[in-house]
Amino acid sequence: LAPVALHHALITWQQQNGRHDLPWQQQPTPYSVLVSEIMLQQTQVATVIPYYQRWLEKFPNFESLAAASEDDVLALWQGLGYYSRARNLHRAAQFVVAERGGILPPCSEQLREVPGVGPYTAGAICAFAFDHPAPLVDGNVTRFFSRYFGITGDVTSSRVSKHIWQLADDYTPPQNNRVYAQALLDMGATVCTPSQPQCHGCPVQSSCNAWQTDRVLQLPEKKKK
Ligand code: ADE
Repeated sequence: LAPVALHHALITWQQQNGRHDLPWQQQPTPYSVLVSEIMLQQTQVATVIPYYQRWLEKFPNFESLAAASEDDVLALWQGLGYYSRARNLHRAAQFVVAERGGILPPCSEQLREVPGVGPYTAGAICAFAFDHPAPLVDGNVTRFFSRYFGITGDVTSSRVSKHIWQLADDYTPPQNNRVYAQALLDMGATVCTPSQPQCHGCPVQSSCNAWQTDRVLQLPEKKKK
């Protein structure tokens, strides 16, 4: 499908079938998007929800997090695992307060200067906090694009990863990127899943290259460990 048609299909799907009631979707700010995306990096949505809510009650903004002790920060993270994420978030808050006056500039190159904010998280802040057109690629999006466009080759290689980022960029809608980005993530999480994908529920099944060539379960390709 041409970009406009793909946007339309995914945005309509999101409005009818996607998730709208996640706590981080309510009045998202750069801070709340950063917290939720870091938590969601290695942890399931259902596990993250109570941690996210407790975190925002205790540390509602960059200032309160920056002023906290590392012990308090780690205590609140207790049980989520991968504790370096908590330390990075703490450092990010200290950086934003010390270097940016407690405010992240809307969707700019400067986002990437914040410790722990990589290309995915920067894109997520642009899309979810500001509804700006910026691409974001994670495992879910990689799976969707590699199947939809029939991209072969090791998706963990920089060549294929660059290709997928380029496609994600080319296909980023000028408007409604917040809903579109959420559609990509929700599709990857609920329809275009690693095993037992629900292709019959996919709004772009008939134009999916992997579907047409019966390679849905072969893509994305990852080099053998
Ligand atoms: N996984 C990563 N980011 C997410 C988000 N914003 N909503 C749901 N699942 C996600």
